[in-house]
Amino acid sequence: MKPLRIAVLGAGMIGRRHIQTILALPEVAELVAVADPAADRAQLGGAALFDDTRTMLEAVKPEAVIIATPNGLHVQQGLLCCDRGIHFLVEKPVTATLEEAAQLVSAVGQSRVKTLVGHHRRYLAAVEQARRIIAAGELGALVAASVIWATRKPDDYFQTDWRTQPGGGPLLINAIHEIDMLRHLCGEVRMVSGLQSHAMRGFAVEDSAAALFQFDNGCLGTLSLSDAGLSPWTIEQGSAESPNFPQSGQNAYRLVGTKGSLELPILRRWGPRIPGEIGWNKPLTGTDIAPPYHDPYQAQLRHFQRLVRLDEAPMVSVIDGANTLAATLAVSQSSSQGSVCAPVRFTQA
Ligand SMILES: NC(=O)c1ccc[n+]([C@@H]2O[C@H](COP(=O)([O-])OP(=O)(O)OC[C@H]3O[C@@H](n4cnc5c(N)ncnc54)[C@H](O)[C@@H]3O)[C@@H](O)[C@H]2O)c1
Repeated sequence: MKPLRIAVLGAGMIGRRHIQTILALPEVAELVAVADPAADRAQLGGAALFDDTRTMLEAVKPEAVIIATPNGLHVQQGLLCCDRGIHFLVEKPVTATLEEAAQLVSAVGQSRVKTLVGHHRRYLAAVEQARRIIAAGELGALVAASVIWATRKPDDYFQTDWRTQPGGGPLLINAIHEIDMLRHLCGEVRMVSGLQSHAMRGFAVEDSAAALFQFDNGCLGTLSLSDAGLSPWTIEQGSAESPNFPQSGQNAYRLVGTKGSLELPILRRWGPRIPGEIGWNKPLTGTDIAPPYHDPYQAQLRHFQRLVRLDEAPMVSVIDGANTLAATLAVSQSSSQGSVCAPVRFTQA
């Protein structure tokens, strides 16, 4: 299969990870250019560097781009790609607001471009295996899901002003991945109730939040979130997806079904010790499945190539990303209104 001629927009923290991924997989993609007004040329593997995205698109005519710029630029850069017929992978959140998400969903629907949203954890082997176990009915019907994401960001992280303002906090930066994962494992979110707190740092942005979710299938979920508390319980620390987050070997997700349960991302499965003997006075046994590790960013890029070349269905479409954004923003909305919210639901027009 021919490698994708790909350009990266934004060579910051996550853009550089995408660049490293492309450079590591020459059979999947060729890095033809980078657009970033402030990038360091040294880390671009010799690719042409442009200050301006439009100039780069004119000069290089990539067939695909990865949009790894600040959230507020996703919509305009996605629309530019739709106009020019360029396939794109956009980082999460798909856009900064629901209005922008609606604009992008509509433009993608009217174009022929293929799109993907960067919820990379869906490609973890543990997650793929959990989906198979759930789909095969091995846990029975899902009744509950409990997730914790708690880690302490260092003080210098907050020297960048936008990280202290609404939109720059753990809900849209971190929990959006957990909420995407809950949708991926448990189904569509029907109702959300949330509370937020900024009591630890006192910035305008939240440092902690708690949320309740009701899914279409009746399952109920909880999420505890904090970037001000020290704990081994984040999916990053459990899955060792990045050397930036030392491995804790701890599970951060618990999924409970009528016939058994599952912890993630190490994948410990709980069920009756004696097959068929189900009940609160019957013994349980826990088995570690220990899924193989594969780099989720590499798996995501390989999928993007198949999406463009072989028309594979997207793992996370723009509509899917918009629904994850809607469920995430519903946590803040519920917190500020003091009421339970039904997230907007995007569908194909
Ligand atoms: N998938 C993940 O786990 C993950 C992790 C981190 C960030 N993200 C997302 O990736 C995006 C970028 O986050 P980051 O942490 O890398 O930010 P960052 O600030 O480190 O990098 C953003 C880069 O975009 C560049 N930029 C600004 N305006 C530009 C423009 N008009 N054209 C081209 N480049 C421009 C900046 O110079 C900077 O280098 C955000 O949407 C963020 O939510 C995703």
